[in-house]
Amino acid sequence: MDVLNGLKRTHDCNSIDSSDIGKEVILMGWVLRRRDHGGVIFIDLRDREGITQVVFDPLIDEASHKKAHALRSEYCIAVRGRVRKRPEGMENPKLKTGEVEVAVYELKILNRSKTPPFPLDEDVPVAEALRLQYRYIDLKRPYMLEGIRLRHNVAKAMREFLNEEGFFEVETPILTKSTPEGARDYLVPSRVQRGHFYALPQSPQLYKQLLMVAGIERYYQIARCFRDEDLRADRQPEFTQLDIEMSFVEEDDVISIMERLICHIFKECLSINLNRPFANITYDEAMEQYGTDRPDMRFDMRFVDITDIAQGSGLKVFKAAATSGGVVKVINAKAMAGLSRKELDDLTNFAIDLGAKGLAWVKIKDDGSWQSPIQKFFTDAEKKAISERASAEAGDCLFFGADAKDVVFKVLSEVRLRLADIGGLIDDEKYCFVWVKDFPLLEYDEDAGRLTAMHHPFTSPREEDLHLLETEPLKVRSRAYDLVLNGIEIGGGSIRIHRPDVQKRLFKALSIGEEEAEEKFGFLLNALDYGAPPHGGIAFGLDRLVMLMGKRQSIRDVIAFPKTQRAQCLMTSAPSKAAMEQLAELYLRLTE
Ligand code: AMO
Ligand code: AMP
Repeated sequence: MDVLNGLKRTHDCNSIDSSDIGKEVILMGWVLRRRDHGGVIFIDLRDREGITQVVFDPLIDEASHKKAHALRSEYCIAVRGRVRKRPEGMENPKLKTGEVEVAVYELKILNRSKTPPFPLDEDVPVAEALRLQYRYIDLKRPYMLEGIRLRHNVAKAMREFLNEEGFFEVETPILTKSTPEGARDYLVPSRVQRGHFYALPQSPQLYKQLLMVAGIERYYQIARCFRDEDLRADRQPEFTQLDIEMSFVEEDDVISIMERLICHIFKECLSINLNRPFANITYDEAMEQYGTDRPDMRFDMRFVDITDIAQGSGLKVFKAAATSGGVVKVINAKAMAGLSRKELDDLTNFAIDLGAKGLAWVKIKDDGSWQSPIQKFFTDAEKKAISERASAEAGDCLFFGADAKDVVFKVLSEVRLRLADIGGLIDDEKYCFVWVKDFPLLEYDEDAGRLTAMHHPFTSPREEDLHLLETEPLKVRSRAYDLVLNGIEIGGGSIRIHRPDVQKRLFKALSIGEEEAEEKFGFLLNALDYGAPPHGGIAFGLDRLVMLMGKRQSIRDVIAFPKTQRAQCLMTSAPSKAAMEQLAELYLRLTE
């Protein structure tokens, strides 16, 4: 027989208030807390929406009061009762339902629960492995539930906006061919085609371009992407993109509509009005001033170049870097001359771990002079010039990087973030968006010994640089753009190549031979031959965006069922072994 016995929920646990006093209500949810107060039992009843206090009083109903003794944490129950005002002084202003309670005259235990493996109270730290193993318990915690709710609201706001702007939502295949986004593919063996494999999409990139050839004009999809790469706090092997493509557009068209989208999302989900247009910076500026193409611009502390001054300096490491094609850069940690010796040593070791040879520092004394282990290597004129260029004032602390460009960028960009952290320079309430533009089209991959695409091989070169593609390929700029929020890349896209001849030239520059191009991307090249429109788009990392909006430390906290750093699911134990018969059916055999 039906356990509910005809009981139908009338309210959720966050909706009754003084206006309901005297009404009969039926609530269903879970026991969060039980308190036994001299004959009267109080339960905090919790459901997805909130908490309502329910009371079991023998004077109201003896049977349900008796039954209530058996209730334990996380029992799933239904109650029927009458809403009444809480006694004077017993109100709980923290709850929306805090002025009332429900006096129960019927209790149904819908299901018992074992004692949960960890308490559901907000403030108890729980090992993440345990949380992932019992994710269905973890997701009940308010912190997690709010992340899931926010994610839902963000996806809803995205759809609202894009539907209104005339975008079609189109699904693209999961069993597909490799789409190069720079990671390893996940392969799926075919049972029907012996020795053949599907690749899971690293993104829907080629499909969305084909949809433009097909005349869809404006496409979006909340798409799952799969990348077998080293994982971090903001990287998962499967993650979700808001994927977008538009025909007949240039960079500014995409950027402007995407800013409006982001503004809509922030307004709907966080009631925050963002200012438009967002800031923008070129790739070169970002690298020179912040050492990274995803600068956190919530605080300043930009790099200042002193390579020219260092050229004549008596400090060997500086001079060597400056005269051998490297650079010397300085960052000014304002008002941080109070750093202790230990903090300076820790910072130096941090820099060395990142590949630096050291991390020279200078404290600016009250009279403007230097206190530093390296001060004896500089003339007064040099000190003055460096101080001036770094806008150094009494109480500041300067940090130096001298090395090849890429080393200095990498090290000082991380030191900059670490200093901001130590100095408490980051305002957590701030949302700092910046578009990064004018990326190089190609970069040199030392390991592979050839050029690779900085974004992906379908990104359009700038028309005015196209003539350099064969002669000076590293000088060609692309039509790509990234959107960075608080130092994290939340989206990236570009205007694409829509001419088959240009696409072929780019494949050639990437050392992809004609045969290989035909085998891997023949379908794209064919499609471009059929009146492909000029088009471009972008993809946002939904997990990252929600993480930042919800002020979470990891994207795992806004994904219902994430994987560990080792790409495992601790709840289902995936990946797991396959039976010999299954492997045989797929023509696979394991080696040792
Ligand atoms: P891209 O590779 O830059 O571009 O990806 C777009 C955005 O997806 C997010 N992202 C990730 N999030 C979580 N885990 C990962 N492993 C991960 N990798 C990427 C980032 C990133 O900005 N097809 C192109 C887009 C285009 O050109 O339109 C693409 O996939 O937030
Ligand atoms: P040394 O001459 O090696 O004792 O270094 C003097 C100071 O310069 C120390 O504080 C080092 O940490 C620092 N230093 C050494 N090499 C570099 C470098 N390549 N860039 C920045 N600082 C350095």
